[in-house]
Amino acid sequence: MTNKVTLTQFLIEQQRGLPDASGTFTLLLNNIVTACKQISHKVNRGNLIGVLGSAGTENIQGEVQKKLDVITNEIMINALNWTGCLAGMASEEDDNPIAIPEQYPRGKYLALFDPLDGSSNIDVNLAVGTIFSILRCREGVEPELEDFLRKGTEQVCAGFVLYGPSTMMVLTTGHGVNGFTLDQDIGEFILTHSNMRIPEDTSEFAINMSNQRFWEPPVQRYIGECLEGKEGVRGKDFNMRWVASLVAEVYRILTRGGVFLYPHDLRDPSRPAKLRIMYEANPMAFIIEQAGGACSTGRERILDIKPSAVHERVPLILGSKNEVERIVRYHKEDGQAQ
Ligand code: AHG
Ligand code: MN
Ligand code: MN
Repeated sequence: MTNKVTLTQFLIEQQRGLPDASGTFTLLLNNIVTACKQISHKVNRGNLIGVLGSAGTENIQGEVQKKLDVITNEIMINALNWTGCLAGMASEEDDNPIAIPEQYPRGKYLALFDPLDGSSNIDVNLAVGTIFSILRCREGVEPELEDFLRKGTEQVCAGFVLYGPSTMMVLTTGHGVNGFTLDQDIGEFILTHSNMRIPEDTSEFAINMSNQRFWEPPVQRYIGECLEGKEGVRGKDFNMRWVASLVAEVYRILTRGGVFLYPHDLRDPSRPAKLRIMYEANPMAFIIEQAGGACSTGRERILDIKPSAVHERVPLILGSKNEVERIVRYHKEDGQAQ
């Protein structure tokens, strides 16, 4: 392949298109990229460097941390805290927002991340990822909790890296979605998937079927109709996938369409949903909408929600537009029926 466009070149060319850009944002993204290359290396080396298994600790969500949850969190923090680009950070693995150490200058952005998504996959050698979201912050102040709790529509950038057979970064700054593949030989991400678009229709769904008895009626109806296949009201057969890694599910949907549901469920009234809005649902919703898809809780657009806590959970339904709209319609019809 000649004329390879590296991610660095792509970012700098984008920056040139913005007359007031200072380069801070490009610097920030370059350091996220550096962190993700380090994570890719650790994930790839696995037990050769003793990084698999449990760390023996719990995060604020009561989840047992894997060694790699802790290691990847440290990699992200150490790659970003010194840059002068950030006013603060928030991570799935830290109870509270992470302050920038005294000795470093403050910047105008906030970074929120899930350093290792799908971490239950790591010990069985399946796909995992990193998800990040960038917000603008008031300048010249130590950010308060309220500075983080912003609607998804206010994101200036969102992306994820999938550590799969290839390591891939997918990125949006609000002008479409582009995918880059890590060329391990030269250590650079190369633009391989320009302007990714999600087909509006699909016959593939992703849901954890083991939770079926806890779903609400609209999701029961939707999945029930998919399972009826050709003989049912949909008049076609559906296929199912469940990777247990949001990054891998979203990447599949970006490449061949589909719909993903981690819906509201009635298993535990204190925890009506699983995925977290600020560093899972919001960045994925930004990417999915920019690629022509849709993203909802079933009752409202994800990007319009005003979060009330950094680790707030939200029902998540995303993917091919017509299918997500159908599921939203089923929620409306269910509301009218009550
Ligand atoms: P994390 O590893 O960051 O906690 O996220 C895991 C998430 C998500 O990636 C995936 O879609 C979902 O949990 C899988 O949940 P189940 O194990 O309930 O299927
Ligand atoms: Mn996650
Ligand atoms: Mn995680």
